[in-house]
Amino acid sequence: MLFRTAVEDDLDRLLGCVVDESISWAHPERLLSFLESGNYRYDRIWLAVADDGEILARAVWWGFPDGAPLALDCLYVHPSVDDRVGLAAELLRRAHDAYGRAIEYHVFVTNGWREHPKAAAAIAWRWEAAGRAGLTEELERLRYEWTAGPVPEPSDRLVFRGEDDDEVFVEAFRRVAVGTLDFHTRQALATTDPLEQAREDVRDYRSMRGDRSWWRLAYDKSGDLVGVALPSANDGGPVAGYLGVVPEHRGHGYVDDLLGEITRVHAERGVQRIVADTDSGNVPMARAFERAGYHNFAIRLVLSANPVNA
Ligand SMILES: CC(C)(COP(=O)(O)OP(=O)(O)OC[C@H]1O[C@@H](n2cnc3c(N)ncnc32)[C@H](O)[C@@H]1OP(=O)(O)O)[C@@H](O)C(=O)NCCC(=O)NCCS
Repeated sequence: MLFRTAVEDDLDRLLGCVVDESISWAHPERLLSFLESGNYRYDRIWLAVADDGEILARAVWWGFPDGAPLALDCLYVHPSVDDRVGLAAELLRRAHDAYGRAIEYHVFVTNGWREHPKAAAAIAWRWEAAGRAGLTEELERLRYEWTAGPVPEPSDRLVFRGEDDDEVFVEAFRRVAVGTLDFHTRQALATTDPLEQAREDVRDYRSMRGDRSWWRLAYDKSGDLVGVALPSANDGGPVAGYLGVVPEHRGHGYVDDLLGEITRVHAERGVQRIVADTDSGNVPMARAFERAGYHNFAIRLVLSANPVNA
């Protein structure tokens, strides 16, 4: 057996890999469209190939066309393989060695997947393989959507202002991250200086498709900074982006005003659907989405490496 990255000549065999389990996967239509857009690349598809050329295992990573791979999107093992966990783990380990790090695995599942034996089984063996390859941290992200519901009225207690200077947003991000319940921010802050972490976040949001001019800082009537609200967009369309309240102003429901502003900014541009994700552990945020008429339509499972061991 040979472990290697894919090449163009593999396309027919790549299209022949079929996952008939209850789980998101790189099905032929997705594969072809993402190979075309550059979000998938042959050199980011790793294969375990039998001596007769048959693909025994396949791992597909997603990323921006010119950037580094960002997420493992599909893990497939041929039904004839006895030890599918062992083979998948070995394939991931080899890819991680080549990438120089273990990259997150994103799995999209429907709500209530734990009660569905097919979905639970599809996830269980992949989870084990990913864990053996270093992806030991588990996170559930709740996916919410707003679909042309009532448009919120402007806040009567906060004033929203744009700001061209990124450093002002960096400082606001730094303050908002204090005491956050967001898993990734907490993880990042375990190893990164808060100011540097805030700069990275601002850079990441700048690289998204949303317009920088939509970003807002929120102030109360006395001119005190209450939080940030960043409507944005990704390849799938408009997203809530990011919002946060500084610790001294938490517990007054300002999250509703910030989310309302984001929804309004999008809705006033004629947007019909806004998507947003939050961690299942970020209860105040999840409740705010529900109050604002956002509907929880799916779950994204994220398996990642512990940054301290990575
Ligand atoms: C999520 C967040 C915006 C909520 O803001 P908020 O305006 O304080 O929310 P609410 O007023 O509705 O809070 C509801 C309850 O949760 C508590 N709460 C809010 N944020 C909390 C936090 N980070 N840690 C612990 N408790 C928190 C509030 O004190 C309040 O408690 P109470 O009902 O006992 O008074 C805020 O925690 C925050 O900015 N977090 C960091 C950034 C973040 O997670 N953004 C979302 C990323 S998707």
